[in-house]
Amino acid sequence: MEKIVSLTKRRGFISPGSEIYGGLAGTWDYGPLGFYLKENIKREWWRQMLREDHIYPLDTAILLNSKVWEASGHIEHFSDPLVDCKKCKRRFRADDLLGSSVSKQVCLECGGELTEARKFNMMFKTYAGPVEEESTAVYLRPETAQGIFINFKNIVDTFHPALPFGIAQVGKVFRNEITPRNFLFRAREFEQMELEYFGHPDKADGHFQDIRKMRMDWFLSLGIKKENIRFRNYGAEELAHYARATTDIEYRFGIAEDGFSELEGIANRGDFDLKKHAEFSGADLKTGGIMPYVIEPSLGLDRAFLAFLLDAYSEEGERIVLKLHPKLSPYKVAVFPLLANKPQLIEKAKAVYQLLVTNYWLLPIAWDDRGNIGKRYYAQDEIGTKWCITADFQTLADDTVTVRDRDTMKQERISVKDLTNYIKQTI
Ligand code: GAP
Repeated sequence: MEKIVSLTKRRGFISPGSEIYGGLAGTWDYGPLGFYLKENIKREWWRQMLREDHIYPLDTAILLNSKVWEASGHIEHFSDPLVDCKKCKRRFRADDLLGSSVSKQVCLECGGELTEARKFNMMFKTYAGPVEEESTAVYLRPETAQGIFINFKNIVDTFHPALPFGIAQVGKVFRNEITPRNFLFRAREFEQMELEYFGHPDKADGHFQDIRKMRMDWFLSLGIKKENIRFRNYGAEELAHYARATTDIEYRFGIAEDGFSELEGIANRGDFDLKKHAEFSGADLKTGGIMPYVIEPSLGLDRAFLAFLLDAYSEEGERIVLKLHPKLSPYKVAVFPLLANKPQLIEKAKAVYQLLVTNYWLLPIAWDDRGNIGKRYYAQDEIGTKWCITADFQTLADDTVTVRDRDTMKQERISVKDLTNYIKQTI
């Protein structure tokens, strides 16, 4: 993890939020390469969702009427147990302290006595308009799901979908985590990618199984190593207030004792949410006379970003390589002139670059004409660029370039006119 934190900072993927002011715990800023990788993960997620014509995308508000959170149970239940140190005043999540009986524990920092655990609601609260009173209180959403449930009727009335159908959303969420930590793993501001899949109650178990498989296949198809990912089913005592069944997809983040922690949660939420919103709002949230059950795969985008980086990181002697799936690599391709001081090579390489740029699906493309070629290769390996294309003296003669593969380090000579096809086919 430490190596990933340092690499991502050094190469412009991620830096601490508000860094020049000393940072703000639990927030992270994505630099250009982080932006590309994140966008690529998002795009691949949408690609899986939108392959089905009965999945509808949404982009709903972050500030929601407080009633939404009353109905959803978040005001009552969305909390972690908190303890304070009576001596140094530090705060801890009770379940972060070792042992079963919190009252017998002491402060991890100073050894002081701790208060009894109490519930701490993790929603960020603010006020709409200039008057700060209970009637104007609003919450930043801690999950994107509720924006979907409160738009259920809009989708049904406008598109008249038959069951089963899904509504999907990607967006920022906010949780006032007591102890944000482990880099992107537990942040206070992050993005979620969520699908709510509505179906007949009798079919819910089948949909649950299908979606579990679909989501695991997605990670594997994007290169996550089999031995680093697994399912874990929840026991009844672990279920969230809305869930009838939950399976996590866990990844070997190396944080927990056995290495594995939650990457994505897949829940059977039954008709909990639609029923509650129907009750609190008075809206009719049935379709075809049925209150559907919902299956929800919910993935933290930033947590996925971390998993893909950890999985891709490798060291081969001096060489650090991010073996990202080329669909995810910030740059799939870099273009160089062999030598930095030969204008005719630079001109030729620029022409190859311009030709590739016309393929919108290949963007962005890296360009580097500094230092020696070996250093340029290594610099691209470290950020996951799959192919380095070099224009050399032979290029001037026969319009072929060398294409060097990140993983094998082998070079092939390919005709410039065949480059696009070569890349497309290999991806
Ligand atoms: N709508 C269901 C829901 O929000 P969750 O298990 O609380 O369920 C879903 O969150 C996913 O969001 C998690 O599996 C994880 O990937 C991500 N996530 C949750 N809390 C996070 C945090 N503090 N920082 C980063 N990602 C987080």
